[in-house]
Amino acid sequence: MAAAADQIEIEVHLPEGGTWAGMVEDVREGLSCPFKEIPPKYFYDERGSALFEAITELPEYYPTRAERAILDAEAVEIVAAARPTTLIELGSGAAAKTRCLLEAMSAAGTLETYVPVDISEEITRRVADELVGEYDDLRVHGVICDYETHLERVPREEGALIAFLGGTIGNFRPGPRRSFLARIATLMYPGDRFLLGTDLVKGQGVLEAAYNDSAGITAEFNRNVLSVLNRELEADFEPEQFEHVAFWDADNEWIDIRLRSLTEQFSDVTALDMRVHFSRNEEMRTEVSTKFTRERLESSYADAGLELTDWWTDPEELYALSLARPVA
Ligand code: SAH
Ligand code: AVI
Repeated sequence: MAAAADQIEIEVHLPEGGTWAGMVEDVREGLSCPFKEIPPKYFYDERGSALFEAITELPEYYPTRAERAILDAEAVEIVAAARPTTLIELGSGAAAKTRCLLEAMSAAGTLETYVPVDISEEITRRVADELVGEYDDLRVHGVICDYETHLERVPREEGALIAFLGGTIGNFRPGPRRSFLARIATLMYPGDRFLLGTDLVKGQGVLEAAYNDSAGITAEFNRNVLSVLNRELEADFEPEQFEHVAFWDADNEWIDIRLRSLTEQFSDVTALDMRVHFSRNEEMRTEVSTKFTRERLESSYADAGLELTDWWTDPEELYALSLARPVA
């Protein structure tokens, strides 16, 4: 047990005041606009992370299964192409599929360090404990931070595979996505590789079902953001007075996820000294989930100073994993 504890280091790089410190400005801005918006990173308190884990097991939510199928088939090839000693994973969450990569690195005899990077402290500490129990000599150096603002805090050494799985890149809007990918490119040594999971454009029915599951878990996940605001910002939103909405926006090629107010209502957000008005049926955006084509991704990589070297999909071409390197 003592040996396992020595294998773990967790750095916390959150703004003063804890995980949610940036929330004050983000939420004030988002709730002051005529079309209200809350950034999706605030979904992931302990309950939100657990609800997301439940989403990944839903029959309608295919991305996790499709990504796992690709990793099962290709992890050895991915590791052979990158030859990493360190696996850095952005937005690692429960790191369920990460095991495929760690297994392949272990089999190749190169596995030394795993660096999970996530805003959610509870889940990252849990994953660190689990993994050192599973891999005898693995060092886990976790970084709790907002990767949009603190990417440079991630420890860097040449020989890393930087993974961003789950299709989470789709939750960025185009401008922030461009700058995020460009910052990743500048952090990479020439021998490093970037492994990205992207959900692909497909028929509207399959896409919309994945975000409107019959068990209502995605709706709970969506409404959970209001409970986070209630707790962290002393607000009094009534989650049950909001309805989950998710639809395919073909122009932007994203699923647009919103909360629709069921009645005219007011909510007080004490920490912001704000009273927020919602008219009946007013919608507030909580997330977008962008879907990609290979062409669109290649052009995003090129804009960021990255070059696609490998592309794998599942047999049904629902989802893709790609490997990229920094342009010399
Ligand atoms: N990679 C996992 C989890 C995806 S869920 C999978 O494929 O299943 C998205 C994860 O990203 C969550 O664990 C969430 O806490 C984390 N996350 C979201 N926004 C973040 C941010 N700005 N900074 C750091 N982590 C973030
Ligand atoms: C984390 N992210 C990739 C998920 C997605 O599919 O965009 C979040 C999610 N939102 C609703 N369902 C799942």
